[in-house]
Amino acid sequence: MKASIVLLPGDGIGPEITQQAKRVLEAIGDRFGHEFTFQSQLIGGIAIDETGDPLPEATIQACRDSDAILLGAVGGPKWDDPSAKTRPEAGLLKIRKELGLFANLRPIKLFNQLIDASPLRREIIEGTDILFLRELTGGIYFGESSRTGSGPDETASQAMVYSVREVERIVRLAAQAAKGRGNRLTSVDKANVLEPSRLWRQTAARVMAEEFPEVQYDVVLVDAMAMHLINRPSDFDVVVTGNMFGDILTDEASMLPGSLGMLPSASLGSGGPGLYEPIHGSAPDIAGKGIANPLATILAAAMLLRHSLNAETEAAAIEKAVADVLAAGLRTADIARGGPSVSTDAMGDAVVDQIKQ
Ligand code: NAD
Ligand code: IPM
Ligand code: MN
Repeated sequence: MKASIVLLPGDGIGPEITQQAKRVLEAIGDRFGHEFTFQSQLIGGIAIDETGDPLPEATIQACRDSDAILLGAVGGPKWDDPSAKTRPEAGLLKIRKELGLFANLRPIKLFNQLIDASPLRREIIEGTDILFLRELTGGIYFGESSRTGSGPDETASQAMVYSVREVERIVRLAAQAAKGRGNRLTSVDKANVLEPSRLWRQTAARVMAEEFPEVQYDVVLVDAMAMHLINRPSDFDVVVTGNMFGDILTDEASMLPGSLGMLPSASLGSGGPGLYEPIHGSAPDIAGKGIANPLATILAAAMLLRHSLNAETEAAAIEKAVADVLAAGLRTADIARGGPSVSTDAMGDAVVDQIKQ
């Protein structure tokens, strides 16, 4: 197979972890006889510094022309001034919107080898295997915003908007995913307070009743969900929710497997190239130290193979290699719980070596 992959390393630890995921993809190419070509493009703070734009047109074009996109992370204190004209994060939101990537798949799967890396007790987290589907191109992230007035009367607002169409398509995808696994779907909203959540709840209930009567379906309010995730995570199968709730709940859920540094994601739309990234950010507190965990990005590369290149065997080979290096005791600092730890590069080397075997 031939495939062209755009790398968007971005800021902070982004370049460090993307480099390791690229090496892993190259090792997969060698082992399975595929020809992957890579090109790096600018996004985020580094793109602002070099071009004034967090998502230059050349990046969008290269992404459109590619088979799949692998992103590190964007953002950092250098670009955090609240009165700045633009922000690194705007580049990420724009690429999601431009490519129509409305569905963000965030699997929360435990590696048994890491069960003691979680701050939660083994009895609670054992058996956890949740697939979050976070709506990614609508909701409050993309609502109209404004700032008016001055002094104590200055106000700011941002609208939360969802259309029936937007809810239908993400719920359908989530229900289809549920059919392929535990056949259970939970929709999370705040329908007791927010109008868009009431539209979300009504639409989801209709789609489920009309199109997926065989899938077990329930609804949970987002505040209660935050609690259930910690108390009884293994009760959930597929969870579908809006953009902001999905952002928050999945960072919370990352503590079940033990670290944000372990969690990959896939952003998919209807047809074009998918975008794959860790769910974590640019981790400015550890950037440049060579200690970031590259496994989330390496596992995102596995999702890229599975969802964009239809290469299930190759994806599974990466996931097995990761499980094997964990079983051998290798840990980056975030999952070492104070024990001995290895560098970003050493973790990448170990996964590459496993794949070569
Ligand atoms: P963060 O996810 O970057 O970091 C949170 C904590 O997790 C930090 O202590 C960090 O060191 C740790 N961490 C994250 N990834 C890790 C890894 N791979 N290995 C080891 N430890 C890891 O969140 P933040 O600090 O709130 O945000 C920093 C910047 O990243 C902000 O500018 C934010 O906007 C941006 N951000 C970008 C993305 C993205 O590009 N997709 C996602 C989230 C945050
Ligand atoms: C994520 C990040 C982004 C989001 C930011 C950086 C725009 O937190 O990918 O989870 O909120 O979607
Ligand atoms: Mn986030």
